[in-house]
Amino acid sequence: MTKKAIGVFDSGLGGLTILKELHRVLPHENLIYFGDTANVPYGSKSKQTVTRFSLDIARFLETQGIKMLVIACNTASALALTELRKQCQIPVLGVIEPGAQKAVQTTRNGRIAVLGTEATVKSRAYPKAILKRNARLHVVQQACPLFVPLVEESWTNTPAARLIAKTYLASVRQSKADTVILGCTHYPVLKPVLASLLGKRIHLVDSAEVLAQAAKHFLQQHKQLEQTGRGKLTVYASDDPVRFKRMASCLLADKISTVHLKKLNA
Ligand code: DGL
Repeated sequence: MTKKAIGVFDSGLGGLTILKELHRVLPHENLIYFGDTANVPYGSKSKQTVTRFSLDIARFLETQGIKMLVIACNTASALALTELRKQCQIPVLGVIEPGAQKAVQTTRNGRIAVLGTEATVKSRAYPKAILKRNARLHVVQQACPLFVPLVEESWTNTPAARLIAKTYLASVRQSKADTVILGCTHYPVLKPVLASLLGKRIHLVDSAEVLAQAAKHFLQQHKQLEQTGRGKLTVYASDDPVRFKRMASCLLADKISTVHLKKLNA
């Protein structure tokens, strides 16, 4: 019997940080990744638009016979999860709940900071998920719109990245948060800069690690976890697969052999 794959999508490349972690934690699972390179960035778009793109991708991935859908994108998780759960026939996992859960377990002083795109911050999805678990916690948010282009241009190790991060982190430092959620697919790539500016005592919560564990837990509970064989990876992009493949190799240690072009609604 052929294995059913896990569908994973993001607005573009950033979700590969999550794909990499899913592959590490679930090495026997087939994974199908969809990067919506035609419509990236989602972080500055409206809920209605992001939901429409997300539903189109989910419908395509469902035609590939997936057993589970993972929204690797924080913005799509914040804005479109409810609608995707309503309209999909398969279980849908987002990054917000696992990230919030981990932050609540991690904080010692009850102060959590969330870094995200403008749309994620505006949705207040993280504060809602955190305060639902413990209403006494204090949550601050900081939108970091320049982080995504820094990562996409491989500028993470530059004085410009440090200066921009320092500016964004001023409010985080002021809040005295001891736990910071990296609430965007791209931010784990900036971990070294963020950690050096915030210091060793601040915990950085990486959605990739937490989400992969949540996916494994779900599959185990539902007796759908693959235990043998090497998982296969299939990658689609909605625009310029050649550029996607080139840039993906900067983010992933494993080279992707082929990126298929799949235009949405075309
Ligand atoms: N994938 C998006 C997120 O995690 C970041 C890039 C974008 O704005 O589309 O929020």
